[in-house]
Formats: sequence, C-alpha cells, structure tokens
Amino acid sequence: MSFETISVIGLGYIGLPTAAAFASRQKNVIGVDINPHAVETINRGAIHIVEPDLDVVVRRAVEEKYLRAVIAPQPADAFLIAVPTPFKGDHQPDMVYVEAAARSIATVLKKGDLVILESTSPVGATEQMAGWLADSRPDLTFPQQAGEQADVNIAYCPERVLPGQVMVELIKNDRVIGGMTPACSARASALYNIFLEGECVETNARTAEMCKLTENSFRDVNIAFANELSLICAAQGINVWELIRLANRHPRVNILQPGPGVGGHCIAVDPWFIVAQNPELARLIRTAREVNDSKPHWVVEQVKAAVADCLAANDQRASDVTIACFGLAFKPNIDDLRESPAVEVAQLIAEWHRGDTLVVEPHVEHLPKALVGHTTLVSLDEALQRADVVVMLVDHQVFKAIPAATVRQPWIVDTKGVWR
Ligand SMILES: NC(=O)c1ccc[n+]([C@@H]2O[C@H](COP(=O)([O-])OP(=O)(O)OC[C@H]3O[C@@H](n4cnc5c(N)ncnc54)[C@H](O)[C@@H]3O)[C@@H](O)[C@H]2O)c1
Repeated sequence: MSFETISVIGLGYIGLPTAAAFASRQKNVIGVDINPHAVETINRGAIHIVEPDLDVVVRRAVEEKYLRAVIAPQPADAFLIAVPTPFKGDHQPDMVYVEAAARSIATVLKKGDLVILESTSPVGATEQMAGWLADSRPDLTFPQQAGEQADVNIAYCPERVLPGQVMVELIKNDRVIGGMTPACSARASALYNIFLEGECVETNARTAEMCKLTENSFRDVNIAFANELSLICAAQGINVWELIRLANRHPRVNILQPGPGVGGHCIAVDPWFIVAQNPELARLIRTAREVNDSKPHWVVEQVKAAVADCLAANDQRASDVTIACFGLAFKPNIDDLRESPAVEVAQLIAEWHRGDTLVVEPHVEHLPKALVGHTTLVSLDEALQRADVVVMLVDHQVFKAIPAATVRQPWIVDTKGVWR
C-alpha cells in the first residue's frame, strides 16, 4: 500500500525536519503539534526552532501546499510520533507525551495504516504504545493480536541526527527499523525510502529501542572515561590533553576529550532509561552518568582554588575578584543551552562567589533564567579585560581563535584544553 498522506506528530527538532523531508518529495504531509505557536508559525512558512537549512525546505513545502500543520490529528496512511520523552525526578522515563500522542491518533486510525514511534524510548515502549492503540480502537487489529495479518502495522524507528546537521544526516544516515513483525519493518522501510539515501536496517522493535539507548550510552561512557582521566591527571600533576594525545597514538586506542560534564537532552538523559529498567545490571552505565553529572562540581572546586591563589597573590578581598566564564552552550558552536553543564558551572560559581561573575556566550543574546541577576553577559573583549580568573567551559571556534598570548590572567581553569 502506498503512502499518499503522511502525518508527523510533534513538530520539534526531530518531527519538523522529518515532515519537511517527506513534503520535499511531494508527499502530502500533515504535521500535528499541540503548541499553537508552532502550528501558526509553520503555516506561515516559517520555523520556530533553530536548525540550518530547515527554514528553506519548510517555506517551500508550505508554499507548494505539501505541508500544513494542525493541532489535532487527521486521517493519514502513516503516522510518525516524535514527541518528548524526558525522565521524571527519579530518572524513570516519562511516557505521558507518547501516550497522549498515541491516544490522539487512535481516533483517526483506519485499516492499512502504519504507526511509527520515533521518540527515544525504553525497551518495550512500542508494545506499550500498541497496547494503548488497541485499547482505544477495539474495532481494529494490531500486531500483538494478529501478527502479520494485523489491520495496523507498528514499528519503532529511532532518530540519530546531529543537531546543526539534521537536514543532511536525516537523509544520509542509515536507519534502524524495528517492526513488531517483519511485515511492519518492510512497510516502515518503504516509508523512509521516500527520502532516505542511507540504508534501512531491519530488526525487531525491542532491539531498535535498545539500539538508540546503546548509541547514546556508548558516548556517555566514553566521555566519562575521559572526564575521570581529567580528575586523575589533575591529582597527579599530568596534562590530560597531552596524555590523551599520546595514548591515542596507539593504533587501537581512541579516547574522547574531557569537558565540564555532559549536556543536551539526549546523552545526559537516555542512559538513565537503561539504568531504570536494569538497576542491578547497568553498573557501568550508571557510574558513567554519575561521573559526568559530578564533573561541574569538580570544576567549581578548581575555580575556588584558583580564586584562593589569586587572593593570596594580590592581597585582595574576595569581592574584588572578577571571574569570567567562557561559553554556556552544551557543545561548541551552537546556541543550545539545554541541560548544559556550562550553565550549571556558571550558576554554582555565581551562587558562591562574592565578586562579579561575567559570562561570555557569543551564540545567545540573553542569559538563561538560571543566571539572570547573578551574572552579567559581556563581550569577549570585556571579559578578557576585566577578569582575574578565567573559566573556559565550551570550545567554541571563536574562543579557540583567541591568541593564548592575549590571555594575561595567570589563573585559568580550562575544562576544554583550549589554551593547553
Ligand atoms: N533533538 C534531537 O537531537 C534528538 C535526536 C534523537 C532523538 N530525539 C528524540 O526525539 C524525540 C523528540 O525530540 P525533539 O528534540 O524533537 O523534541 P521537541 O521538544 O523539540 O519537540 C517535541 C514536540 O512535540 C510536541 N508535542 C508534545 N506532545 C504532543 C502531542 N500529544 N501531540 C502533538 N504534539 C505534541 C511539542 O509541542 C513539541 O513541539 C525525543 O524522544 C528525543 O529524545 C531527539
């Protein structure tokens, strides 16, 4: 069965580019989002999120009438769900958005439809979603009841795009396709092949769910190794950047770079889904999360030590010392501050420090709420001029371009090795 109309539920960083990719292949796409601002913006041919090249594709798709956004689901041949999957206070996955989205599309489902869950989810989430759909629509059959003969096909297909390069990676990356049955996988592959240049690799739903969590946990564990090394090296008086560069000359060693912690709403979140379901078994994954989450506090201790040295050398009062934090984003050259360890470090410093705390973040125009009132957003030049203690938190290109000779401060806490 072909896909004449495709519906994407949740028009955020993942859903909107996906909707736009289908629409750019002349498919009728109905985007659904409960946020009226997002719906109104998209229907004007504009975008409400920051992602290079997305605006052009959305504008064209809306102008050519292949893409429109609505608040409530309408009938379609395929539904892709890309709504948030945060964790709750106790690190348990919160599936309320997925359940709400599933129950909302259930009302318009018909025989022959395909439903795909794209949201990063714990193992078993696709079966759970199929349960909610079956519960809402007893007149239709689903794979858990009728296998290959089901009226509705269901699959889990995770997204692995890199923010900032979504419009390229969405099309070029290979996709893991986890159907609840082989027929479900085949239909989901046919759907993605409308725009995909990468390969569709088929498996079952549980393996596909675990695959996405594994990819992000792999990154988290490897970053934790580098972060732990940075603590050990500091205690041993060894330059961690030189150490890693030397160790990586070994043909089978490839250590990642340490930093102030791990941020963003994927790598810092998804490993907890594995830990929540396997508390006894996921020891390494849990420890990696703890190592990365504790790094901002260690950085702040380094800053306190630098301030103490500064005071001892200058016979100043603590309130006379100015600290400048360089960078707030959770990774270089973007404006995304979500779950950023740099924001946490700046906040902890400002709460403790009695003098001025300056912040330099060339990618944003306003301070995040957590820093308003405690810190001042200043230019790079002003920070370099006024600061007694410099704290490098993000290796933005613009910071790397600062000649080391112009950094006159002897008290530097460099979490990214920019001035190594
Ligand atoms: N952003 C990434 O880089 C990335 C990468 C891989 C996977 N993911 C995963 O993809 C999923 C979506 O992430 P995102 O970054 O696009 O989130 P997002 O917050 O940018 O967008 C989600 C959208 O869903 C909408 N929404 C919530 N409930 C809804 C409902 N019931 N019906 C319709 N719309 C609803 C929200 O209004 C929002 O616009 C998450 O599970 C995330 O972990 C994200």
